[in-house]
Amino acid sequence: MLRRYSFCLRPALSYLASRQKHSLPDLTYDYGALEPHISAEIMQLHHSKHHATYVNNLNIAEEKYKEALAKGDITTQVALQSALKFNGGGHINHTIFWTNLSPNGGGEPQGELLEAIKRDFGSFEKMKEKMSVASVAVQGSGWGWLGFDKESGRLRIAACANQDPLHGTTGLIPLLGIDVWEHAYYLQYKNVRPDYVKAIWNVVNWENVSDRLQAAKK
Ligand SMILES: [Fe+2]
Repeated sequence: MLRRYSFCLRPALSYLASRQKHSLPDLTYDYGALEPHISAEIMQLHHSKHHATYVNNLNIAEEKYKEALAKGDITTQVALQSALKFNGGGHINHTIFWTNLSPNGGGEPQGELLEAIKRDFGSFEKMKEKMSVASVAVQGSGWGWLGFDKESGRLRIAACANQDPLHGTTGLIPLLGIDVWEHAYYLQYKNVRPDYVKAIWNVVNWENVSDRLQAAKK
């Protein structure tokens, strides 16, 4: 009787497990749509290979973590933390990044976002300069961010190493990220990270950044 009962439950449990798997989000634009600022080759590799690898490895790490949790195996749970942080951060960061970009992007933000930028940085140009400097200065691989500090209600610039996610690392809510891993620019800009950072402003989706600010304020 018990056997039949557990057999009946199995499809439901496997359905639940499969539902919890993370998946690579689709882009809302073509790989070549951000040219000439970001090449189609970079976008294709970045999204379909690099981001996909973070998603796959996050799912594997989570599966192992679930098994370790079920066994009460704390040693394995602890050992999995860095894989969860790295691949979970990679998935979170890139999912934000794709929506921060648009073939119709660039220019200046408007409305409340522009007013908040002026209030907290003096001008849009000063904010761009500060975020560019912080992004270029990341040692090795990492991200530059424009984030929202909910406590003070102000915008902040921050940099994170590796795939450390902004919110989990600093408490800031991510609005706009610049991926400064070499995989984001090397095929087009070689070692000249400042040129890539300069170019990316031409494809920033300010509507998405504004929407993120509105959501962060709630
Ligand atoms: Fe990346």
